[in-house]
This record gives sequence, C-alpha cells and structure tokens, in this order.
Amino acid sequence: MCGIVGYIGKRDAVEVVLDSLKRLEYRGYDSAGIAVIADGKLKVIKTKGKIRDLENALKGFDVKANVAIGHTRWATHGKPTDVNAHPHVCGGIAVVHNGIIENYVELKNELVSKGYSFESQTDTEVIACLIRDCYKGSLFDAVQEASRRLVGSFAIAAICENEPDTIVGYKKESPLVLGVGDGEYILASDIPAILPYTNRIIPLEDGDCVFITSEGFDVFNNGEKAKRDILTVSWSPVLAEKTGYKHFMQKEIFEQPRAIADTIQGIYSFEENRFYLVSSGFEEKLKEINRIVAVACGTSYHACLVAKYWLEKYAEIPVEVDIASEFRYRDAVIDEKTLAVFVSQSGETADTLAALKLSKEKGALTLAVCNVMGSSIAREAHEVIYTHAGPEIGVASTKAFTTQMAVLYSLSLYMGSIRGNLEEKDVASRFAEFIKIPRLTEEALELDEELLSLAMKYLDKKDFLYLGRYVSYPIALEGALKLKEISYIHAEGYPAGEMKHGPIALIDKEMPVVVVAPVDRVYEKVKGNIEEVKARDGIVIAFTTSGNKELEGKCDHVFYLPEVGEELSPFVYVIPLQLFAYHVAERKGLDVDQPRNLAKAVTVE
Ligand code: M6R
Repeated sequence: MCGIVGYIGKRDAVEVVLDSLKRLEYRGYDSAGIAVIADGKLKVIKTKGKIRDLENALKGFDVKANVAIGHTRWATHGKPTDVNAHPHVCGGIAVVHNGIIENYVELKNELVSKGYSFESQTDTEVIACLIRDCYKGSLFDAVQEASRRLVGSFAIAAICENEPDTIVGYKKESPLVLGVGDGEYILASDIPAILPYTNRIIPLEDGDCVFITSEGFDVFNNGEKAKRDILTVSWSPVLAEKTGYKHFMQKEIFEQPRAIADTIQGIYSFEENRFYLVSSGFEEKLKEINRIVAVACGTSYHACLVAKYWLEKYAEIPVEVDIASEFRYRDAVIDEKTLAVFVSQSGETADTLAALKLSKEKGALTLAVCNVMGSSIAREAHEVIYTHAGPEIGVASTKAFTTQMAVLYSLSLYMGSIRGNLEEKDVASRFAEFIKIPRLTEEALELDEELLSLAMKYLDKKDFLYLGRYVSYPIALEGALKLKEISYIHAEGYPAGEMKHGPIALIDKEMPVVVVAPVDRVYEKVKGNIEEVKARDGIVIAFTTSGNKELEGKCDHVFYLPEVGEELSPFVYVIPLQLFAYHVAERKGLDVDQPRNLAKAVTVE
C-alpha cells in the first residue's frame, strides 16, 4: 500500500528515486511524485497515473540533485488526482507517506485554526503541516515531535529546504528499510527498491527515527540512540528484473522449479537423516504443543489450507486455518500449548501482523513463514522460516505460494518426526519423493502453449467455477483467485462435494467448470462431480494424471500432468491454473502485474 523512497548520495537522485519507484510500483500505482532540493530550493513534480506518467511529467525538468524522495500511491484518503499525489509540502518541508493517519481530521482542524491551509483530501498533508508546525530549526526533532502526535500506521520520509543534505525517516507499523551503500543511503518500503545500489540493509523497527546525511546515519528510538544490525541480503538485483519475459507474473510462474528447489535445499540432510528447519530451543517448545492454528490472507491462506491436510496427517495434531482479518476479531482459544503459524510473502500484511501480536499476547508459540528477510512478521514471531522465492513483484502471487507450501510440507514431516509418528526411513522416503517436485513443476510448465489456446477460447466468459476435493480443494480456490484478480472475470472456487448444495444451480451451457482431478483417493468422487456438471450442459476443463484417458469422452478439455504422490499434487496442479489466468488476462490486454484496485502488500487494515 504505497511505496516510498528517499535517496542521498553521489548519484543523480532523481534517476535513483525513479528507478526505485519502478521497483515499488507493485505496492500501488494510481499516482506518483518526487521532491528534490536543487539549488537550495524544494521542487516537487507529481501526477495522477503510473511511474511512466511521472517520467513524462519530468521531461524538460532538468534538475540535478543528490537528495530526493519519491512516492507511488495506492489511494486510501482522497481519489487518485494530481493534487492528492505525494509528496505533500508545507512551508519548505516535503513528505512521502505509506500508511493511514487515524486522527488526521482532529489534527487538520487544529492546524487550520493555527492558520495552515490544505490543498488535498489526504491524511498525509496533515503530516507535512504538523512537521512544519513543530519545526524550530531541526527536521529530525520536528519529525520526532510530530510522530508522537500521529495515531495510526506510518512510514515517512521527509526533506526540508533549510537542510539540503538531510533526509529523515520514521517507521511505525508500515515497513521501512534503510540501504547502506558506499557513501550513499537509500530509504525504501521494500528491499527490491534498494538492491541495485546495495545489499546491506537495516529493516527499521517500530518507533525508529532515522537521520541521514551524505556523511552517515543515526537511528533513534524513543529519543535514545539505537543500535541496528546491518543484514546482507542474498537476492540478486536480476531477480527483480523481467529478464525477457513480458510480465513479472509470467517470469515468476516459470521461476517456480528454481524457487522450490532453493527453498527445500538445506532443510533436510539425507546423510544425517535430520532437519535443519528451526533452532533447537524452538524444537523443544514444539514438542509441548497440542494444537496448531495457521493464519494468513489471500494466497498465503490457501497455502495454509493445503498444509492442514499434511500437518494433521504427519503431526497428528488438530489444525485450524483462519483468515487473519477474521481471526483477529473472534475470541480464538489460544494458549501456551498452541503453535500459531503466520504465513506471509511480504511479511507486512497488517491483519496477519495483528493476528500474530494477539496470539503472542495470549501466550502461543509463534512461527512465521515469510519471503522478505527482516520483515515485520519475520521479526515479531518467535521463530521464522524463510521461503527462498526471491523478490515477488507481480501482484498475483505465484512462486510465493509454491515455496510457502514447500516450507509447510517440510514442517509437517518435521513435526511428524519429532513427535515420533514418522521413523527415519519414512522421512527419508518422503523427502526422496519431495525433491522430485522441482522437476515435476518444470514438466507442468510445458502445458503453457496449450493453455494459451484454451485462454483464447474462453476469455469472453463472464463466470467460472473451480472444483477440487481433498488437497485439490485449496488449489481450486487458488485457481479462482488467480483468474479473478488479474482478468476481472468472476470465478468461484468450491469443494467439489459441496457443488450440489448450491452452486450446481449456476451451471448451464455457458459455464466453464475447471476441475482439478488428479488420480488420488477422491478421484472417483470427482469423476462423479464431472458427470453432474456434464448432465447440466456445463463446459468441463479437467486437469488429471498423465495416462488417465477415461476423462476424454466426459470432458470438453482434458490436460495431463505428470504422476505425483497424491499429497504433493498441489505443487504440480496449481501451475496450469496460474498459466491459464495469466494468458486470459494478457490476451484481454489487461495490466497483469498491476491489476486494478490491488496492491502487493496490504499494510493497512
Ligand atoms: O504478503 P502476504 O502473503 O501476506 O499477502 C497476502 C495476500 O494479500 C496476497 O496473497 C494476495 O491475495 C495476492 N494478491 C494473491 O495473488
């Protein structure tokens, strides 16, 4: 939800900030802007639209500066317009902001009574004016003082005409990372914006106020100087490039064999017959738990739904799966014998973070599964396991999903082993199957051309139904989510067995029904559901196991996927559903990587 950047250093600051904003555009893309201090004067260029519109607006704006801040917006307060775009300025101070100021109306009234006037409908303009009101010669002091009065979530970067060699940043409940380069510093909402300049980063903590000049930086928290460790991230900047693909989503779909392999590498040693997944102290605590709750949003929630089948099978512990925004407002029964698992690609999703904090308060043992190193959820949990997907830029989550499942499957085997349910030889044989997954997903990707043809045939349909049972049920949900979020076609995922309790009424000759039908323990049941759809003239698109020819006569389209152990089929069967959604959206000429109304990291409630 909005991306912010600040740069100070030897390079052309406008160029760096623009480049970094492009890498943050997945966070919001309805307007953008940049502020610099050049020749002692504050200059601001901002516009409704995407970064490319900002680039156009910057043409003929010949400014050389070494200090700049920038913003790409996902509107919360006030429509996407030129005036509402950030940076917002008040009396020589410019501010970019990610988050929501809950008490902005009250502050605005107070500032108006003091003579301040406002141009925009945003909450951010209040921050700029409040900092101006607190300013007595030090931007750093003014930002700290103003921040104490702000209620809500906010990551900000501010510059001031009177202090041309300074950027001040503040973080509270919205992400902010400082990149520490060689004589240059870059402040940003997320790591990919920083990667081309440095891989040395400091994820700032809540309450941190960072004071940056070209000479160095200091972090303060609550008025006290704070020591923050510099982390070295292993992501290569190339991972945040399209490298010849038309869209990031397409590239990320094709990266999955590599991403899954990277994620499972090193988790389990065949030679020693042991896991390297969590610390030994955490392992001891895990032995005490008698219940698991898994909490997440969107695609990450679907990964948790798949994991429930695995965890219950191997750990033999009851598992509850919840959507974070529901979990946090119900009276969940959680105690110190509960393991609460929080799954999040970004590690910044506001509802998931709040659910994590709540579970900690109730005494649960907490575990995060995150992709972004040093993110808020990763830091807040008692223990974190990272997925090694690399930066995921496309708003539609793909490689994050399969790598989350890879971690959760490993966790299930591990729990089975420490609880004595799985013997060493069982773990070894299951891992031997598991490590075939990268190759099997590669084979699934070979369906790409056929799925393009399928997409062209059905892209004008208005509704789709996705069906699956057992571990394929969450895959049906995920397939439907992919289609709706990038192609704007209404799609519903359903457990196939539930169809006759309602959705069957929707089926007619216009309705394509995508059926995830590997030959597994529920295959015969799913075959029955296919018959039910066909009996009502629905169009059936089935995905089944290679060699299973019996669906040919029953379905309109059958696609074959490599044979895979039944519990591991989600890794393979989600691939064609991602590809199908991608091709439908791409052929419809839609903005695949930045679908309307969405943002990659939902850092507001
Ligand atoms: O960063 P997170 O995994 O916490 O994000 C959760 C959801 O916002 C995310 O999975 C969303 O549903 C994706 N757009 C789905 O493709």
